[in-house]
Amino acid sequence: MKIGVIGAGYVGLTTSACFAHIGHSVICVDNDEEKIRTLQNGKIPFYEPKLKHLVTKNVKSKRLKFTTKTIEAVKESVILFIAVSTPPKKTGKPNLSYVTNVAREISSTMNEYKIIVEKSTVPVKTGEKVKETINLYNKNNIPFDVASNPEFLREGSAVDDFLQPDRIVIGVESKRAKDILLELYKPINAPILVTDIKSAELIKHASNAFLAMKISFINAISVICEMSGASIEKVARGIGLDKRIGLNFLNAGVGYGGFCFPKDLKAFIQIAAELGYDFRLLKEVERINEEQKQRFFNKVAKLLPNLKNKQIGILGLSFKPNTDDIRFAPSIDIISRLQTAGAKIKAFDPYAMNNAKKIMPNIEYCKNPYQVAENSDALVIITEWDDFKKLDLNKIKKLLKRPIVVDGRNIYDPKTMGKNGFIYQSIGR
Ligand code: UDX
Repeated sequence: MKIGVIGAGYVGLTTSACFAHIGHSVICVDNDEEKIRTLQNGKIPFYEPKLKHLVTKNVKSKRLKFTTKTIEAVKESVILFIAVSTPPKKTGKPNLSYVTNVAREISSTMNEYKIIVEKSTVPVKTGEKVKETINLYNKNNIPFDVASNPEFLREGSAVDDFLQPDRIVIGVESKRAKDILLELYKPINAPILVTDIKSAELIKHASNAFLAMKISFINAISVICEMSGASIEKVARGIGLDKRIGLNFLNAGVGYGGFCFPKDLKAFIQIAAELGYDFRLLKEVERINEEQKQRFFNKVAKLLPNLKNKQIGILGLSFKPNTDDIRFAPSIDIISRLQTAGAKIKAFDPYAMNNAKKIMPNIEYCKNPYQVAENSDALVIITEWDDFKKLDLNKIKKLLKRPIVVDGRNIYDPKTMGKNGFIYQSIGR
């Protein structure tokens, strides 16, 4: 099938490459000329495992094309995915102007029947606005359908999440759109849930809100573990083995970050308020998440009461492993607290340092974890990259000025760390 994807960010690019991979013909559009040039030259503007290979392969086989012109995608495709960003406004409400601009552009260049699909995360009832916009500019009364097909792609495993999803959600208003979208996803083996558009839109926000709630819940339990002497990993496993709860997303840590959870929660709270519901549960999820970062800073401050001029070594800057994304990363908050207290920061991250340098210039960026440890008063782990789990801890101890390790992701065993002479603090144990 012929597909156009407007937006070549994480979602748009992964969607484009994966649709091409399963045999469709895809035109991916972005108005950022430099980004399109980069992609045309076979380079990916961000780090995402498996994506580069998929893009290169499908560009070569001519199933995937990049352009800055929306009109090219509109002319050649039946299905048009809107995958542009919906950044948060100051109020927390998502800015939908990119979505409506794309809808207008599509509408004024449509030549025959099209399905316009919302892929970006949008508030419930955005489909109605998209439809209104298209109607407004659809001078020749070309038939069209609007649909919602939310993505559930995690950064770091986006390709696998697309090709082997837990479910595919399709929100439609007509049989014609439903049949075409079902055909589109035929090569993917997953349960497909067909709903109305509003329910599909809501499923996305509700899913992310539920996952964030699970994280804040386990982080709250980790505080009780610390206060009572219980162990968070055992408690998490004990509750997670109940199939109704499930083992995933029960890792206590420094709090959730990234470009989805923080922004989607804020948006969802706002949308609920506009509809007349005070979503206090989610406000508390946010509060616990903020508090978790403060608590983590307090752990460091308790071990080093006078942080002024102390050198703190940070391992991990990205909001989670396997991505170079630092947007809303807990590292930003924690480093800022440490710097405000007068500490000097050294840091290493396998992929995120280039992005970090742009917003945190006052850090000494290191070549590896050992350089970070050298002469530091404490080593602080914020992201659980696999490489950090395999460090030579004897070497680390020798390099550190004091053998203090504060682990925000529970990557080491407290007993082993104690035996090896470290002063070791982690989360909920
Ligand atoms: C999320 C959703 O998972 C995905 O379905 C959606 O479409 C986009 O948003 P992503 O932001 O890539 O994906 O990351 P995710 O793996 O969900 O992690 C989000 C944050 O939660 C990270 O900061 C991570 O470190 C944290 N987290 C996750 C925990 O602290 N504990 C956990 O158990 C799981």
